[in-house]
Amino acid sequence: MTKETDQPPHSHFVHKLDRSAILMIVGIILLFSTAIIVTLVAPRYVDSTWTSPSSPYQVQMYEIEDPYLYISSASSGGQDLQYVNHLMQDFTLLAFKESDNLRLVAPPELEKFITRHQDNKLKLTSRLLLLREPEEEMEKQAHTLRQQLQQEWQNQTDAQNQHRLEKIRYQILELYDPQVPEAFSLNTSGGILQNWVDKDFIILDEEVKHPYHQDYGVIYVQNPQEFRISSSRLGQEERWRYDPAGRPVKGLNELKSPALGFHSRQELIYLGEHIYAIEGCWYCHTDQTRTLVQDTVLNGSDSYPAPPSSANEYIYQKITFPGTRRIGPDISRVGIKRPSRDWHKAHFWAPKTASVGSIMPAFQHFFDDDPRGTGKSTIGIPNHRFEAIYQYLMTKGTRITPPTQAWWLGKDPIQTKEIIEGQRKLK
Ligand code: HEC
Repeated sequence: MTKETDQPPHSHFVHKLDRSAILMIVGIILLFSTAIIVTLVAPRYVDSTWTSPSSPYQVQMYEIEDPYLYISSASSGGQDLQYVNHLMQDFTLLAFKESDNLRLVAPPELEKFITRHQDNKLKLTSRLLLLREPEEEMEKQAHTLRQQLQQEWQNQTDAQNQHRLEKIRYQILELYDPQVPEAFSLNTSGGILQNWVDKDFIILDEEVKHPYHQDYGVIYVQNPQEFRISSSRLGQEERWRYDPAGRPVKGLNELKSPALGFHSRQELIYLGEHIYAIEGCWYCHTDQTRTLVQDTVLNGSDSYPAPPSSANEYIYQKITFPGTRRIGPDISRVGIKRPSRDWHKAHFWAPKTASVGSIMPAFQHFFDDDPRGTGKSTIGIPNHRFEAIYQYLMTKGTRITPPTQAWWLGKDPIQTKEIIEGQRKLK
């Protein structure tokens, strides 16, 4: 007989393991399966407010405002930006609202869309209408209206200061139906102010055209005038500029073409998020206001502490950067704390000039050389990388509550610094 057949018939390898090894294997299996079960089951028990948007405002900012707001610096080599709203029939909500020196005229069938000076409810519609300088029929009507307004104004004033008040000029625009499915309008606030209304408004559509129109507050575009351009040739190069008397932009393809160079704010924000990752900004910055007093004060002020970050703020981000090291300030509320484009321009170009003693590296590749080729540029002209990171930073803290409930009113960062440094007491 050989040695092998000597062994008892039940000599399986398991029997060769000692007990502690078996226990370890069982332990590992248990540990892994518990981890998997917890990962699968836990989300069902999470408070749903953590994972759903904080308000319709947040949803509409990311889904209605950002993708339909277009930005370009192509017309002037980056110094001034052009902001354009993409308006769509049955989708974008529009308001046509009179103000102190703006009056609107319209053919009888469109009268109902105008929010008159004295109306107490804002009228909105998703029918694509535009404003323009009065033409033909309407021009006469506008002329009479202007004279009438001037007359009323004069009657109200005494002879003494009449000479000054006569100079008041009313702007009169005509509301008309361009009969197109989409159009572009100039956004005069530079994309900084959103028109948001959550009380005293009505939507005049006969049926609901888009689910967001049923939210308890809505983003809308006020008094849109068509974005028109005219182009000219400079040697080989075709240049364009904004020109109210020019021709309308043909469509989204033309708007996004290299000549006009528009990008939607949504595209820029995603690019900014990407740049934030590859530049390693997260190495020095955190993106979370903790529940600690120093965080809520540093990102807010003594009278308006910044709300601590909550999970649902990040749901529209592809990558989140909570961060761990606070070598630089936390950036989760920077859109409120530092809204100035110029400040960020100076800061990325030379952090030490904007902020004495800063150890943040300069990011001069966010700027191009002087496009005139003089080589004398000392400030650089921001390129799309700058705009992307700037737009990304501006989302921080600005989308947690609608502007009407803003927590940041009255913020004062200077006092905040004194509080942290112990020179002032928290009230
Ligand atoms: C080496 C560390 C470091 C890196 C990397 C860094 N920063 Fe900074 N950052 C700082 C420091 C320190 C400050 C505070 C001093 C100052 O204002 O420059 C600061 C300030 C800032 C501020 C002003 C914040 C405030 O509340 O005043 C912003 C915005 C900012 N950084 C954005 C960025 C972005 C975006 C990047 C990546 C492109 C970046 N930083 C990369 C260290 C860094």
